[in-house]
Amino acid sequence: MFHKKISLFLAVCSIAVLSCNTNTSTPADNLIPKPVSVTKGSGQFTITEGTSIIAATEAVKIGEYLSAQLKPATGFALKVTPGTAATKGSIFLTLGGDASLGDEGYELSVTADQVTVTAQKPAGLFYGIQTIKQLLPEAINASAKQEAKWELQSVTIKDQPSYAYRGSMLDIARHFFGVEDIKRYIDLIATYKMNTLHLHLTDDQGWRIEIKSWPNLTAHGGSTEVGGKKGGFLTQDQYKDIVQYAMDRYITIIPEVDMPGHTNAALASYPELNCNDTATKLYTGTEVGFSTLCTSKEVVYKFLDDVIKELAAITPGQYIHIGGDESHATKKEDYIPFMEKVQGIVKAHGKLAIGWDEIANCTLQPNTIAQYWADAANSTEAVKKGAKVIISPARKAYADMQYDSTTRLGLHWAGYIEVDTAYIWDPATLEPGIKRENIVGVEAPLWTETIVTMDDIEYMLFPRLPGYAEIAWSPVTGRSWDEYKVRLGNHGPRMKAMGIDYYPSKKVTWK
Ligand code: ACM
Repeated sequence: MFHKKISLFLAVCSIAVLSCNTNTSTPADNLIPKPVSVTKGSGQFTITEGTSIIAATEAVKIGEYLSAQLKPATGFALKVTPGTAATKGSIFLTLGGDASLGDEGYELSVTADQVTVTAQKPAGLFYGIQTIKQLLPEAINASAKQEAKWELQSVTIKDQPSYAYRGSMLDIARHFFGVEDIKRYIDLIATYKMNTLHLHLTDDQGWRIEIKSWPNLTAHGGSTEVGGKKGGFLTQDQYKDIVQYAMDRYITIIPEVDMPGHTNAALASYPELNCNDTATKLYTGTEVGFSTLCTSKEVVYKFLDDVIKELAAITPGQYIHIGGDESHATKKEDYIPFMEKVQGIVKAHGKLAIGWDEIANCTLQPNTIAQYWADAANSTEAVKKGAKVIISPARKAYADMQYDSTTRLGLHWAGYIEVDTAYIWDPATLEPGIKRENIVGVEAPLWTETIVTMDDIEYMLFPRLPGYAEIAWSPVTGRSWDEYKVRLGNHGPRMKAMGIDYYPSKKVTWK
């Protein structure tokens, strides 16, 4: 009898706890990436048309960004005032606070009276603002005015990223994507506190960045794309506009000029880059590994010096990516001195080089980064040579891999990557020879052989991208698929409100 009573009591309790959990799940329980610490309080702050944003002088621009972010859905034009003290009813952005939060961390406090974001650096304030958006009702992501109560539940959040490099890559060479699409891509990754966009600017099928001293690269080499339709390219002014747009969102652009393979578009544009002095034909297929610059010709290095000089001049970030992958048409004895020489060209123009993992076969300049995509032995070798590594394992982090065998878009040469497969891994334990201290961060590349429209991009990125962002941002100790999939499911309406046509994986219960 006694036991029966106890078990009845426990059953009622656990039902109560379950329903309690469901009923009290608030936006603070569903943040992606998951913050380092969340302490819920009582009461709430309501944003009204009278709410003001008070920002430290260095943060006025971020205050204006917040005001602009809140405007479409609320219809409010919140005023931004420079200031160093909060007033009741305001959102206050201030620099300082806990030094241990580092360059990108922030503390967010929501009380009934005010919202305060404190950070050492403006980047931290920017991430605090992304959190504020996720604490508001999901309708805040809509692009037109919504009827909603713009309430934030009281909470204190302390947060900072695990990895300094949190990125995605977009291939605009196989299919060309222009300024508006790239800006949307930037906005999407910024939402999840990523800070790097690697642009794959050149490949066999297209040269997509204006180089003034070699104009045929884009005039001819940029004229088509996979499938044979009209291609396109970014002018240097458009590229600079993208760089500034990204900087305003605390995102660094890393431009990639792939070489010595993946260069047919250049080889088709200038005969002298070929060993036989004959221009190749433009290529609109999807094979890899058939092209190579003529590594023994001086003019090739003059060409690369001009390209990297022009690119370095319009790239404020530290890094230029020099590719180096799948150079199957280049002899190894030619590949090695070539990649070594090109690292020197990058250095001569004041930048640091990144190469795909094959670059580990070369002598590496100090600070050259290797990007692990396929070959663990290469990546481990890079670490042995003292290099840091970006972790982008194709079998986990390639956003162009199909979710399963029924996915309309994408490839599967590295496997199918369901949403759980994309999430369940830890960069620091993926390969025995690559430790936490060797890793700068995580990048999810999106190759575009099969990707034609922005809608295609979003279908492949979502819902995997929030998981990649969380792997890069959140402490590994707090991460589990069973817990994450609930947050992701609750996040569905936010993605919908952002206009994202995501893959509704059956592994997740979507709200
Ligand atoms: C690559 O996927 N070829 C880097």
